[in-house]
Amino acid sequence: MISSFIDLRSDTVTRPSIEMKRAMCEAPLGDDVYGEDPSVNKLQEEMAGLFGKEAGLFVPTGVMSNQLAIKAWTAPGDEVIVERESHIFNYETAAPSMMSAVQLNPVVGEQGILHSEHVRAAIRPAAYYYPRTTMVCIENTHNRMGGTIHPIGGIQDLHAFCLEQQIPLHLDGARIWNAHIATGTPLKSYGEAVESISICFSKGLGAPVGSMLLGPKDVITRAHKYRKIFGGGMRQAGMLAAAAQYAVEHHLPLLAEDHRRAQVFTAALASCRDFRIQPEKTESNMVLLDFSASDIRAEAAQQRLRESGIEIGMGMGDMLRAVFHLDLDDEILDRAISIFTTIFD
Ligand SMILES: Cc1ncc(COP(=O)(O)O)c(C=O)c1O
Repeated sequence: MISSFIDLRSDTVTRPSIEMKRAMCEAPLGDDVYGEDPSVNKLQEEMAGLFGKEAGLFVPTGVMSNQLAIKAWTAPGDEVIVERESHIFNYETAAPSMMSAVQLNPVVGEQGILHSEHVRAAIRPAAYYYPRTTMVCIENTHNRMGGTIHPIGGIQDLHAFCLEQQIPLHLDGARIWNAHIATGTPLKSYGEAVESISICFSKGLGAPVGSMLLGPKDVITRAHKYRKIFGGGMRQAGMLAAAAQYAVEHHLPLLAEDHRRAQVFTAALASCRDFRIQPEKTESNMVLLDFSASDIRAEAAQQRLRESGIEIGMGMGDMLRAVFHLDLDDEILDRAISIFTTIFD
């Protein structure tokens, strides 16, 4: 870690290594707006193959990837079913209403998971005065729920139901890599259980920039046009694609270390009385610390930690969220645990 404080805020705070920067410098480049960047083309083809989808589109961010999916699958005036705590509903600044002129229908899932019965109840009947339900979105792993995993069986069941209803299922898979490493479920199985998937290289995998929308060719062709309209046409983007390629090739197995550290942290602090950790909810690289039954408010705890050299993010309600990532090691983990046990009971 470069800075001296311990940064547990997010897995997006990592810095590219020298080796990753070298791969970026050595990448063959071209103009991607002309479709001529070999490094971008290679990444798009390889990721499409890895997830069993027809085509891929490299984009700067996960938000753009999700929003292009919504734009490509819907028409103005449609409705999109999302989970109430999803990133799309909470953190994408109402983009679906601005960019796609659609309405979101936020449905409370079970710990962030949408089952077919949730979706069945939310699909609009055919009467002319209702919006048309034309898309369902899920998220895996689930950010606000603390990195929890939507099991592949559940996604497949939901997919079968959505196919029956002829409604495309989109997966916000910003951290699908974590779900894959934690469960051993092949990436292809996730890809095949949805119509489109957004993947991010800039979260746990540690690339500085980059996400990708994967799906059927016609949808990616539409998304390609909208990427240009949204201002996301990049020129020698191969430098960024090379970082993403490096991240997938070298950092994917390292997510297991993030998960192990999250478990060690959970086990070390599970008996603290100032906050509550539910060990069964530490499923990947995130740990939620619940202060709702404590005399200390999460915000005050966050400040106390800051003064002791730990930056940590707020979670939902009265919770803090610790995220384990590539720039943390066992020595930093031990230091973090020792600070927590010193300042909390
Ligand atoms: C689940 C999820 N989806 C999408 C995004 C958006 O990614 P970006 O910050 O690259 O736009 C994030 C960001 O943290 C996320 O956690």
